[in-house]
Amino acid sequence: MQTRQHIFLIGFMGCGKSYWGNNLAIKLGLPFLDLDDLISEKEGKTTAQIFAEKGEAGFRLIERDALRLLADLPVQVIATGGGTPCFFDNMNWMNQHGTTIFLNTPPTLLAERLRGEKEFRPLLRSVQDVDLLDFIIKKLEERAEFYLQANIILEQIVGDEEFLEKLVARVQGRVTSP
Ligand code: S3P
Repeated sequence: MQTRQHIFLIGFMGCGKSYWGNNLAIKLGLPFLDLDDLISEKEGKTTAQIFAEKGEAGFRLIERDALRLLADLPVQVIATGGGTPCFFDNMNWMNQHGTTIFLNTPPTLLAERLRGEKEFRPLLRSVQDVDLLDFIIKKLEERAEFYLQANIILEQIVGDEEFLEKLVARVQGRVTSP
């Protein structure tokens, strides 16, 4: 499939942006890029190290600049960070430079997936297991106004074996070939 613009996957930590992004890229015959990986490569540090050294505000500036670099790259499928759409004018920028897809995942499923991964996620590190679900629900509420500006919104249901096919169909339905 030919597309003139990037395809951005957005959504909360643990919604599977990298996993589905990779699979989508394979199906569409496009390269795949993870924005957090690009940031780590550029800075020579993990995102957790950047958070620890520069705080969230410092990370968001680096993230914004890394996102802008994508304008000069060939078209690809990009997994963004969970907070990327929610800072500066990043969501507008992505909508201007590609197709945005919000993977909308039930908070209970996110909590299940994220419980064992808190140490790799700077925003979750200090959240107790018992508070994780409430934290996710609250953060999702704050972020919804950004996530809901996506061009495509896909609900994730537990055990949906046709999810990739649905994702591909929605993207193909939206992205026009030149
Ligand atoms: C963040 C999500 C992370 C990473 C950073 C902040 C967030 O990416 O960018 O830890 O604010 O939700 P993933 O969504 O890939 O975990």
